[in-house]
Amino acid sequence: MIYSRQDSEEMDAPPAPADDYIAPAPRVSVQAFCETQATAEAMQSAGLDRRLAKAHLTIKMGGMEAAIETYNSVPTPNVIILETAGSNDILEGLDQLATVCDAGTRVVVIGNENDVAPYRELVRRGVSDYVIGPVQTLDMVRAICGLFSASEAVAVGRIIAVVGAKGGVGASTVAHNVAWAIAHDLALDSVVIDLDLAFGTASLDYNKDPLQGIANAVFAAERPDSAFIERLLAKCNDHLSLLAAPAMLDRVYDFGADAFDAIFDTLRLTTPCIVLDIPHQWSGWTRRALVGADDILIVAEPDLANLRNAKNMLSILKAARPNDRPPLYCLSQVGMSKRPEISPREFAKAMENQPIGSIPFDPRIFGTAANNGQMIAEISANHRISKMFVQIAQQLTGRGEPKKPRGSILSPILRKLRGRA
Ligand SMILES: Nc1ncnc2c1ncn2[C@@H]1O[C@H](COP(=O)(O)OP(=O)(O)OP(=O)(O)O)[C@@H](O)[C@H]1O
Ligand SMILES: [Mg+2]
Repeated sequence: MIYSRQDSEEMDAPPAPADDYIAPAPRVSVQAFCETQATAEAMQSAGLDRRLAKAHLTIKMGGMEAAIETYNSVPTPNVIILETAGSNDILEGLDQLATVCDAGTRVVVIGNENDVAPYRELVRRGVSDYVIGPVQTLDMVRAICGLFSASEAVAVGRIIAVVGAKGGVGASTVAHNVAWAIAHDLALDSVVIDLDLAFGTASLDYNKDPLQGIANAVFAAERPDSAFIERLLAKCNDHLSLLAAPAMLDRVYDFGADAFDAIFDTLRLTTPCIVLDIPHQWSGWTRRALVGADDILIVAEPDLANLRNAKNMLSILKAARPNDRPPLYCLSQVGMSKRPEISPREFAKAMENQPIGSIPFDPRIFGTAANNGQMIAEISANHRISKMFVQIAQQLTGRGEPKKPRGSILSPILRKLRGRA
C-alpha cells in the first residue's frame, strides 16, 4: 500500500507561487566564466531549469581573464556572464573585453560586496546586469531571463497546465470552470487551449462552435504570430477566449515533443494567463507541456489508481522542476454514493500536501452544465462549487478577488449623517 491509515499531522498549505514571475529565455547562447566552484554549481543547476530549456549554456572557470582569452579567437555569444572575485580590476577587464565583444552581446557581472567599481561605471561599459554574490540557482535564472523579457519580446503570460490523474476524472471540467473564474472573477485576460484535439469538450462546455482553433495553429506551415492566433480564438466572456479542439477524426493527432512550443511562446506575449486542458496521456508533448508550465494542477478522483498515478506524476514533475513550487492537485467527484473512497486525509498524506480543492460528486449540476454548455457559475454564481472554483483560481494565480470598495461598520451611519447635513 502506498498510503497509510495512520493519523497524519497537519500538512502545510500549498506554497504560494513565487511572486517574481520569471519568463522563459529564448533560444540564446550563454557562456559563463566563473571564479568560484559555488557559482559554477549555481550556473550548472540554472542551466537545467525549465526556463532556460531553450538556451545553450556553457560554463568555464577563470573569470575575466579566461573570457578575454577565449574571445580573442572566437565570436562572442548572446550573453556573457562574468564572475569577478574582487581581486582584479573589473573596469579594466571590461574595457579589454569590449575590444573583442560583438555588438549585441550582453554582459552580466557577478560581483561581491567588496567590489569598488561604481554601478554607474559598469553601466557605462555596457554591463546589462550586476548581481552580487554569492548567487543561488534562481538568481542566475532570473538574471539571464530578465535580459530578454525586458526587451522587445515582453513575455507576460503565465501558463497553468491542468491534467487528470486518470481518464474521465473531470480534469477538463475543472480546467474550464477555473479558467472561467480566473477571467470572470479575477478579471485576468485568459485563453483556454483544448489540447485534446480528437475528443476535447471545451467548445461544448462554453457553448461555442468555432470553425478554427488549435489544429489550424499546430498544423500551420509557418510559425504562428500573434495576429494569426488572435484570429483562431473564440470569445467566451469579456476576459476569456478559447483555442478550441476540432474534435474531428478525419486525421490522427501524433505530435512531436515540441509541436506546441511556438504556439505557447506566441500566446505568452499577449495573454496574461493561459490554461492548458491536457488530455490524460503520457507522451513527449504532454510531458513537455507540463514541465514547461508555470503551474500544474493534477485532478484526481479519490481512488487507488488515481492516487498511484497522481503520486507518480508529482514525483517525476517535481524532479524535473526543482526550482518551482511542486504541482498542486485537487480532488474531483468526491462522495459518490456507495463508492469506497480514499479519504482526503490519506490522499493528502501520500501526496505530502493538501489538495487546493475538493469538488463533490454532483451529477445533477455538472450534468446540467454539460448539457447546456454552461459553467457552474453561470447556473448559480453563489453555489458552493462555483465558490470552490474561484478559490482554486486564486490559489493557482496567487491573486485575490478584485478589491471591493472598503467600508467600515460605521459606514451606514456616516452616510445617514452626511445625508442629513
Ligand atoms: N464533480 C463532478 N460531479 C459529477 N460529474 C462530474 C464532475 N466533474 C466532472 N463530471 C462529469 O464527468 C465527465 C467527465 O468529465 P471531463 O470530461 O471533465 O473529464 P476529463 O478528466 O477531462 O476526461 P478525459 O480523460 O476524457 O479528458 C463529464 O461528463 C463531466 O460532466
Ligand atoms: Mg479532458
